[in-house]
Amino acid sequence: MNCPIGQDHDRNEASSLAADMVRQARKKRVSARMIKLARLRTAISVTNRAIIRSQSLAEVYRAVCRACVEQTEAKLAWIGVADAAGGRLVPVEIAGAAESYLADENVALSPVDAEAKEPVAAAYREQRAAFCNDLQRDGAAGKSWRERASANGLHALIALPLLRGGMPYGMFAAYGPERNFFDADSAEMLLDMADNISFAIDQFDRAEERRLAEEKLRHSAAEREQQAERLENLSRRLVAVQENERRGLARELHDRANPNLAAIKLILSSVESALPDEAQERVKPLLLDVQGLVDDTAAGIREICADLRPTLLDYTGLVPTLESYAEMFTKRTGVPVRLHVPPAWARLPQDVECMLFRVAQEALTNCAKHACARSVDIELLQSERRQALVIRDDGFGFEPQRLGRSGSTPGLGLISMRERAEFAGARFYLSSHALKGTEVRVEIDEPAAPRRDAVRCTAADALQTLPETL
Ligand SMILES: Nc1ncnc2c1ncn2[C@@H]1O[C@H](COP(=O)(O)OP(=O)(O)O)[C@@H](O)[C@H]1O
Ligand SMILES: [Mg+2]
Repeated sequence: MNCPIGQDHDRNEASSLAADMVRQARKKRVSARMIKLARLRTAISVTNRAIIRSQSLAEVYRAVCRACVEQTEAKLAWIGVADAAGGRLVPVEIAGAAESYLADENVALSPVDAEAKEPVAAAYREQRAAFCNDLQRDGAAGKSWRERASANGLHALIALPLLRGGMPYGMFAAYGPERNFFDADSAEMLLDMADNISFAIDQFDRAEERRLAEEKLRHSAAEREQQAERLENLSRRLVAVQENERRGLARELHDRANPNLAAIKLILSSVESALPDEAQERVKPLLLDVQGLVDDTAAGIREICADLRPTLLDYTGLVPTLESYAEMFTKRTGVPVRLHVPPAWARLPQDVECMLFRVAQEALTNCAKHACARSVDIELLQSERRQALVIRDDGFGFEPQRLGRSGSTPGLGLISMRERAEFAGARFYLSSHALKGTEVRVEIDEPAAPRRDAVRCTAADALQTLPETL
């Protein structure tokens, strides 16, 4: 077909103009999409930042809803949490110009209110996402809430379930101001946001669990410390009560028996002088025997009293008491005791001296009972800030780690030595080897402060190895 040249030219120009317009429109669409994507990304990063920095879930909810409205131009965004009974979705955060939509008491949020068929409530009830780009034509929706949505300028909706520990917890909903407001990109962003909110809910739960566990731990640590302190006080008191009882028993024994024994001796000598001469001859040996028995009993009582409460300890201190006790021990057992005391040995607080004496007393008793020792050495050591008492025998020794095992009956002596030492703020060490003798050592740092962690110990605790040197 022949066309006039002028017409051809006009047609060409028109079609290139149209192509230009199409290009321009496409360019515009592409750049609009780029801008939209950038804003969606901003919304997501605002949400993520809020999750990391927020101190409470309420802060997270606020940041998410605001970011959703500000960056996507949604008309309304809200988060609803199911109430305890699970009957209603209670809005905990609302952002946007259509807040009044939710302020209306009649908005049918109740999942059980099936009549109203509000899409968010329905989606929560069925635990699914709700996606609707034209609310006015949503056949499933009830009439009443649709009118209210239209009156509030809400035309499109995406609502997504929120989970807590994997269980239904609430909904996150965003509304568009026009039909077809949401596309695949914004749907994906909202999905990300909902995931992030669920993640934040779990994070806050975990932080709360950790806080509670730490609090419980702190509480039980404090309780344990209090118990240890109570136990320590109780044990300290037991030691004091025991010492008092011994002192009382020694006093009673001394006050009651001694005068009687003295009186018996007087009466015996009166009887002897009152007897006629011929009777005296026959009875005298008997009377002498009785007097001997009385002397022996008095000496025995003195020894028992000294054992129970060495008065020397009060008057002259540890060293003379140890000397006298060692002498008595040798007399009783035939085992020589050598006492080594540094020339500048200074007296210690009374309860510490008493503890050291009781340790030495029990260690010597053990030598007599178990060691078959040829000799015993008692050593007092003193360095600038430390004192020590060592009792060493050259007897049979024993294997401390075997105590309490079958065939061996542990006594209380080792345990109470260790307890007494620790309650007085000292350290107790025991070392023994079969056929190589036994060594008991107590060390005190100056000033001797009672150890707070000292609690009643078991036989195994008493079996510590000996330190290198003082
Ligand atoms: N010096 C020692 N020599 C040998 N064995 C000892 C000595 N001291 C303690 N033992 C052993 O340790 C055990 C526990 O001692 P101890 O606690 O004082 O109780 P007990 O003297 O009442 O038996 C003793 O029965 C004994 O077997
Ligand atoms: Mg013993």
